[in-house]
Amino acid sequence: MAITIEKLSDAAGAAISGLDLTNPLSSEDTDALTKAWHDHMVLLLRGQELTEDEQERFCRVFGEIAGLKSTKSDSKFLFVTNKEDPKLATAVQLGEMMFHYDQAYSEHPCKASTLYSIEVPDVGGNTCFANCCAVYDQLNDDWKERLENKTALNYFNYDTNPSLRPDEVDPNAPQFSHPVIRTHPVTGRKSIYVNRLMSIRINEVDREESDEILDYLFDLIESPQNVYEHVWQAHDLVLWDNRCTAHARKHYDPEKRRLLRRMTILDENPVA
Ligand SMILES: [Fe+2]
Repeated sequence: MAITIEKLSDAAGAAISGLDLTNPLSSEDTDALTKAWHDHMVLLLRGQELTEDEQERFCRVFGEIAGLKSTKSDSKFLFVTNKEDPKLATAVQLGEMMFHYDQAYSEHPCKASTLYSIEVPDVGGNTCFANCCAVYDQLNDDWKERLENKTALNYFNYDTNPSLRPDEVDPNAPQFSHPVIRTHPVTGRKSIYVNRLMSIRINEVDREESDEILDYLFDLIESPQNVYEHVWQAHDLVLWDNRCTAHARKHYDPEKRRLLRRMTILDENPVA
């Protein structure tokens, strides 16, 4: 069966059909998938009934598997859900989640993430993906120059509202500063690497200017022209480039179970 690639939006995303991931991929299919991923940043493979091993085999096409950074579990999978399950390594999260890059608060954020949907509500809980290369391209020359050599502190504290941007940071909370502009090691495209959930400060400027820069960039990242909104079905596998694609979750009914299995892929290149 020939692989077909269909764009999902003008911003990002492509649906891949003609593959059955319960079988190993041929080298031609691997090459086609890798190219499609670099072209479209987000890949959707629909109607795949995958075991954990099959999801892992797919992930290994793109690199080494990353462990979990934020739990004591040695599980390679994180179950993103709204209902605690003692048998699983879960991240219990309710409702909406702001735009972010996975693990941006750490020194070595993952290169890519996959989410496999096991159970999703009929309505809501969509995941939005923002193309942050397009965001960079849309900046005028003054903005590009202004952001050159700037870094942002990415701070993750579950106890505070991130949009409040505290003056004092808790030294025990996960945090790391990364360049605001990063260059994709394969495509060479530049992208904007800040996010509303975790980036609280531009380190090289005063608070007022920092807020101005962050507010401007967050609004541009989140503007509809730069976003693909994914409506989940059960047995969707989504892979995204965590270096240049920020993502967010929309509201859903907390009474409806939502269970996705996440596996992330190590980045062999430093962010800078
Ligand atoms: Fe995430």
